[in-house]
Amino acid sequence: MVCLGNICRSPLADGLMRFKVEKLGLNIQVDSAGTIGIHSGQGPDPRMVQTAKNNGIDISFLRARKIKDEDFTIFDHIYVMDRSNLRDVQSLAKTIEEKEKVKLILDVLDTTNYKEVPDPYYGAERDFIKVFELLDKATDKLIEEIVQ
Ligand code: 4NP
Repeated sequence: MVCLGNICRSPLADGLMRFKVEKLGLNIQVDSAGTIGIHSGQGPDPRMVQTAKNNGIDISFLRARKIKDEDFTIFDHIYVMDRSNLRDVQSLAKTIEEKEKVKLILDVLDTTNYKEVPDPYYGAERDFIKVFELLDKATDKLIEEIVQ
């Protein structure tokens, strides 16, 4: 799961996915990263931690890091939050196969007006709640596809 800073959207996507994977006992490795490293080592934004906690998900233990070359070999799928992330991450891919691993996470949903997960960093509480709603639905669908 990849966003810009790895402190708002992708840690939530990561935490939701880990929660659902663990609940179903699936053997899937989940992680998250940012395209920039300025928040590396930091925990998620307290507003995202609180929104997740309000919905029973703990993301407080996650720590931000920048995406690295090995991510393209370790992971089968790399889900990004917006088109800017898509461009940035695809530009790091070294092969066509690596490039094809990178997908917009909301493409998994065909029933949303949103094509991108909006960056809530400069937003208000409702923006964090919207991010939760979108990523909760998207990760449900990803899990459904994996199980099938
Ligand atoms: P994220 O949000 O990409 O969802 O983690 C942001 C976090 C930090 C910044 C921008 C967006 N920033 O400019 O520091």
